[in-house]
Amino acid sequence: MNTVWSDYVQGINTLYLSRKNRFDEVFFDSFLKLFRLDADREFTILEIGCGPGALCEALRRAYPKTHICGIDRDSAFIDYAQKHISGANFMEGDATQLPFGDESFDVTISNTVSEHVEPTAFFGEQRRVLKKGGVCLVLSARKGIRVQAPCLTNDEAEEAFWRKAAELDDSFEKYAVCRYPMNESELPRAMEKYGFCDVHTGYAVSDLTPDDPKYSRPFALQMLETLRQDELDALFGAQRTLGEHFTKDEYAAIEKRINEKHDLRKKLFDQGQKQWDTAVSLTMVVRGIRP
Ligand SMILES: C[S@@+](CC[C@H](N)C(=O)[O-])C[C@H]1O[C@@H](n2cnc3c(N)ncnc32)[C@H](O)[C@@H]1O
Repeated sequence: MNTVWSDYVQGINTLYLSRKNRFDEVFFDSFLKLFRLDADREFTILEIGCGPGALCEALRRAYPKTHICGIDRDSAFIDYAQKHISGANFMEGDATQLPFGDESFDVTISNTVSEHVEPTAFFGEQRRVLKKGGVCLVLSARKGIRVQAPCLTNDEAEEAFWRKAAELDDSFEKYAVCRYPMNESELPRAMEKYGFCDVHTGYAVSDLTPDDPKYSRPFALQMLETLRQDELDALFGAQRTLGEHFTKDEYAAIEKRINEKHDLRKKLFDQGQKQWDTAVSLTMVVRGIRP
């Protein structure tokens, strides 16, 4: 049972909801253009480091004839995906030692995983399990735009809490998070170096602006709920990591404040008082062929 990532790095809600927004059908076409896979064909996809399964869910929607398998080291993510995402298989496993035979898949894909796994193993294992002519897709988050609603600004107590939490928290170092970052030129070069050919790059944009009337009310509310869950997950993660560095009352006060802020954000939305907060995420897609 390994729940390091979901307990100390990113919680289930944070990952599932943020990706559910990013890969919503409103935006997914721009990803599909970069994937260049034939939706009419029957093929097999392996998603590496699938987390709670939001990308597998979007892939299922786009490629109804595919056989999709998601693999991740974190037991809580796999348990969540198995219970909530239909039409794909999920299993625990390590990206550096994929539990599959050589040449088993037509496509491998990963989202925000390449920076966490040693590149020789990351690319080498995908090259091994891909069939000849198979497609390797590496998705990687790039710097986007984030502007907060004024009503969600931290008050002094929150500022002090998060400052102290950041000073005490060594999870990223301890759990080898983002140990292998690569810039926009290094990532495609790594794909070539590790034996892929016909490498292409491209960028997909997901623009999450709940007040923009082009989005449906349910989708806007989902964006707002994601912001709330993101903050709550960060708080619960801090509580697990930092334990008695704060009192129970201090944790409870921050939780109450988070919920109050987000209740107000929703009320303003319902009243049509626009905040124009926005989160624009830019995803780099690198596509290569296994010779
Ligand atoms: C930033 S999260 C992304 C999760 C998912 N791709 C998504 O976008 O929601 C990185 C994921 O990689 C997984 N991971 C990290 N190292 C791994 C490894 N060696 N083998 C399998 N999974 C790994 C973590 O458990 C985590 O789920």
